[in-house]
Amino acid sequence: MSGMRSGPAVHQETETVRQIDRNAEPPSPPEGRARRGPVDLSVVLGGVTLRTPIVSASGCFGSGREISEFFDLRQLGAVTVKSMTLEPWQGKPTPRMVETPSGMLNAIGLQNKGVEYFLQYDLRWLNSAKVPVIASIAGNTKDEFVRVADRLRGAPGVIAIEANISCPNLEDRDSMFSHDAKATAGIIAAIRRQVEVPLFAKLSPNVTSITEIAGAALDSGAQGLSLINTVVGMAIDIETGRPALGGVTGGLSGPAIRPIAVRAVYEVHQAFPDVPIIGMGGVTNAHDAIEMLMAGATAVAVGTANFVNPESGIEITAGMEKFMADRGIRNVAQLKRSA
Ligand SMILES: Cc1cc2nc3c(=O)[nH]c(=O)nc-3n(C[C@H](O)[C@H](O)[C@H](O)COP(=O)(O)O)c2cc1C
Repeated sequence: MSGMRSGPAVHQETETVRQIDRNAEPPSPPEGRARRGPVDLSVVLGGVTLRTPIVSASGCFGSGREISEFFDLRQLGAVTVKSMTLEPWQGKPTPRMVETPSGMLNAIGLQNKGVEYFLQYDLRWLNSAKVPVIASIAGNTKDEFVRVADRLRGAPGVIAIEANISCPNLEDRDSMFSHDAKATAGIIAAIRRQVEVPLFAKLSPNVTSITEIAGAALDSGAQGLSLINTVVGMAIDIETGRPALGGVTGGLSGPAIRPIAVRAVYEVHQAFPDVPIIGMGGVTNAHDAIEMLMAGATAVAVGTANFVNPESGIEITAGMEKFMADRGIRNVAQLKRSA
């Protein structure tokens, strides 16, 4: 397949994704504006300085070990690890992924090896790779979230906890924590008490008002927000008439959801301008990352694009650097103001 590289989990990309990849180079500056100069890409996220705003998104990067075959992970701002739970989770029945126009649907079901495995193996390896770690946690009950957060207390190299609250709340009719302001407030307040690093609440776009849910998370102690998780969708195999995913519905990701993500980041940033946001959803190239920063994100996470090109993160960083240097933009704050 043209433009494809082999990766840890390479999937077929759509024609539109290929098209977007080919257009990865941001536009040249208008005549007369080009002034090359040194560029500082560093950003401060929750009190920690990252060398670039580009980080990996949870669930799309393995533990980082596989990707380290392609480049030195220190070239990323941070690695966000797959959401971990108290005990290992087996995940949902197969098939778990299906390609859709400009994106993919997944119903992995948070398969992971549990927090103890993370601490013993993945984190040790990430520490040896000297890359800052954002630890994503998940659970089906408040108690499970709290116990995972507690196990991560003092974990070396973990610069932030990202609470993936897009999980079914087994204590309340299986409705997702992040789909309800009260449930969001309850879970974030409980986790906050266990966490000594900045706590980011990862929110679902599948709500009427993401600003209302963001407000509930912030009022309950979240210091930052990760926006957005996947958009709920479904595909049907017309030969069998059955759902294409074993889990029936799944999460849509990739370029198809980017305008939804940009809108969510923009709206939440307008409502809470001082709150750090990790923006994500369909970011594939430097143009998309710059757009996300201009919408109000402090850092930008890259997910599905890694399946097409494992080097997406560093290529995006290089593209941003060129965009800024060409326009004489010296730092990320100035880039955002230039919008
Ligand atoms: C295969 C796959 C697995 C994912 N697993 C997780 C996960 O474990 N925890 C989480 O918070 N988000 C998970 N996500 C959501 C991504 O982190 C991200 O929020 C979403 O895919 C939008 O970004 P993207 O379009 O760049 O992929 C997963 C996404 C995909 C495609």
